[in-house]
Amino acid sequence: MARRKLAACSWQRVAGKYFKKVFLYVIRKGLPAARCQLHASHMIKLTNVSKIYPPNILGVRNVNLHIRPGEFVSIVGQSGMGKSTLAKLLFAEERPSSGKIEIGGWDISRIKDRDIPLLRRQIGVVFQDFKLLPRKTIAENIAFALQVSGERMKRIKEVVPQVLTIVNLGDKAKRYPFQLSGGEQQRVSIARSLIHRPKILVADEPTGNLDTKNTREIMELLKRINEFGTTVVLVTHNREVVNALKKRVVTVENGEIASDVEEGRYRL
Ligand SMILES: Nc1ncnc2c1ncn2[C@@H]1O[C@H](COP(=O)(O)OP(=O)(O)OP(=O)(O)O)[C@@H](O)[C@H]1O
Ligand SMILES: [Mg+2]
Repeated sequence: MARRKLAACSWQRVAGKYFKKVFLYVIRKGLPAARCQLHASHMIKLTNVSKIYPPNILGVRNVNLHIRPGEFVSIVGQSGMGKSTLAKLLFAEERPSSGKIEIGGWDISRIKDRDIPLLRRQIGVVFQDFKLLPRKTIAENIAFALQVSGERMKRIKEVVPQVLTIVNLGDKAKRYPFQLSGGEQQRVSIARSLIHRPKILVADEPTGNLDTKNTREIMELLKRINEFGTTVVLVTHNREVVNALKKRVVTVENGEIASDVEEGRYRL
C-alpha cells in the first residue's frame, strides 16, 4: 500500500515538473504556431546581414533594409551581384552568415527547419522557371501544394478555383503545363504562391523567360496582388518593368545595397 502511494507520488512529481516546464516555455515563447505567425504589420527588416557561401564566396554584405507592409520593392543589379541571395534569405532558403532578419517581428536568422513550413505559408515565392509538375494538370499542381501543407480536401476544393480565378485561368484548370504559354504557366505558379493568402510575395525574375506581352500581364497581376495589401519584393533585370512601375528600387552591387530610391528608375 505504502509502495503504491510512493509510486503515485513520484509519478505526480514527474508530471508536475513536465507540466511546469511546458507551461513556462509557452509563457516565455508563445505557442509554436502563434510564435511563427507574422504580426499584422508584416514588415521586413534586415540588420547588418551578410551571407558568405562556402568556401568564401560573397553573397551579400552588410545589408540594412527595411520594407514596410504593403510596399512594392524592385531589387535590381547586374548578374551575380547578390539579388537572388537577398531574396532567398527572406524565405529562409538560405540562412545569413551574420546579422538579423526579421519578418513581421519574427527573427528568422536562425529559423529551425521545422518552422520553415510555417514561414512559407506566409511568404509566397515565385521563380523564373515556374517549377510546375509536368504530369499534373494545373488544378492538380495547386491542389498538390495544398496537400503537401496538410490542407483538408474540402478546403482544397474551395481554394483551387479561387486562386485560378485570381490569375484568370479558371477555364484552363484541366490543362497540363505543356498546354499553356509561358505567361500562363507563370500565372499558375503565382496562383500556387497565393494558396495561403501570403502577406509577402517574393518573385525572383518572374518575367525572365517571358516576352513583352506576357511580361506586361504578369506585372499587372503582381500590381493587383500588391493593391490588395500584399507586400511584393520583385527581383528583376528588366529595365522597362522597373521604370514603368514607378515604385521603390533597391540596387545591389557586389553584394551591397548601392542605392535605395523611392519611385526609382533602373540606372545601371
Ligand atoms: N549556393 C551557392 N554557393 C556558392 N556561391 C553561390 C551560391 N549561390 C550564389 N552564389 C554566388 O553568390 C553571388 C551572388 O549570387 P546571386 O545568385 O545572389 O546573384 P544574382 O544577382 O541573383 O545574379 P543573377 O542576376 O545572375 O541571377 C555570385 O557570385 C554567385 O556565384
Ligand atoms: Mg538571381
